Amino acid sequence: MTDLSGLRAVVTGGAAGIGLATARALTAQGAAVVVLDIEPAGVPRPLLGLKADVSDDASVRAAVEAAATALGGIDILVNNAGIGAIGTVEDNPDEQWHRVLDVNVLGMVRTTRAALPHLRRSAHAAVVNTCSIAATAGLPQRALYSASKGAVLSLTLAMAADHVREGIRVNCVNPGTADTPWVGRLLDAADDPEAERAALNARQPMGRLVTADEVAAAIVYLASPAAASVTGTALAVDGGMQGLRLRPAAQS
Ligand SMILES: NC(=O)c1ccc[n+]([C@@H]2O[C@H](COP(=O)([O-])OP(=O)(O)OC[C@H]3O[C@@H](n4cnc5c(N)ncnc54)[C@H](O)[C@@H]3O)[C@@H](O)[C@H]2O)c1
Repeated sequence: MTDLSGLRAVVTGGAAGIGLATARALTAQGAAVVVLDIEPAGVPRPLLGLKADVSDDASVRAAVEAAATALGGIDILVNNAGIGAIGTVEDNPDEQWHRVLDVNVLGMVRTTRAALPHLRRSAHAAVVNTCSIAATAGLPQRALYSASKGAVLSLTLAMAADHVREGIRVNCVNPGTADTPWVGRLLDAADDPEAERAALNARQPMGRLVTADEVAAAIVYLASPAAASVTGTALAVDGGMQGLRLRPAAQS
């Protein structure tokens, strides 16, 4: 049911982490995939990597048109490119607020509106946004990042309503902490990377980080004909972090 043969997909931020895992998983299910990324150089074949900065409208429009030409159309758009920010509401300067919201929220707006004319021509159109557990749970030191992902969650619902009658489904995935280059950079910057990794593992009821492949599998499902009746949903891939309330192991 998740066979994607004949479908054409665009993945933003697809040169690393969750985006690359998603591009590979879509390809494995038979889709033709173009990756849009600010650093597309390392994108492995048969993926086609195109340079695009989701914070630059002209760059996005040109890259989406080039992708549509290369693929012969677009059926699936995965809005995955995103950047992080650490701090409380006191800590990030206005310029950083503008930058993170520009990439994480407006980036999805730009790619989606550029892709919509192509999606409208598809008999099987789906948009999947990479949101986050930060949209649904209060995490310390993530004020700006959480605000951006809260906006992604609401944007997903609004887009799903706006385009349902055009046959375009819109959903999002909410990963918990996922083992990607991004989290690798965070661990490298920590005073005690081992202790930081242990703390991140312990925060998830399954006791380990989510893998990029696990998030990719959820994105493939939401993008596939198997999810033909699924729109306006947020699928958590978080090791139980959002939904479960466990007692300490010794008392359970
Ligand atoms: N890793 C996690 O723990 C986690 C958890 C929840 C949600 N997410 C979300 O998943 C998505 C991917 O995260 P990841 O961990 O794979 O990150 P990553 O940093 O490992 O990869 C992100 C990719 O996006 C690209 N990118 C960054 N800015 C871009 C821009 N302006 N235009 C185009 N491409 C750009 C990068 O070059 C990179 O290839 C993000 O939206 C992130 O918020 C990640």
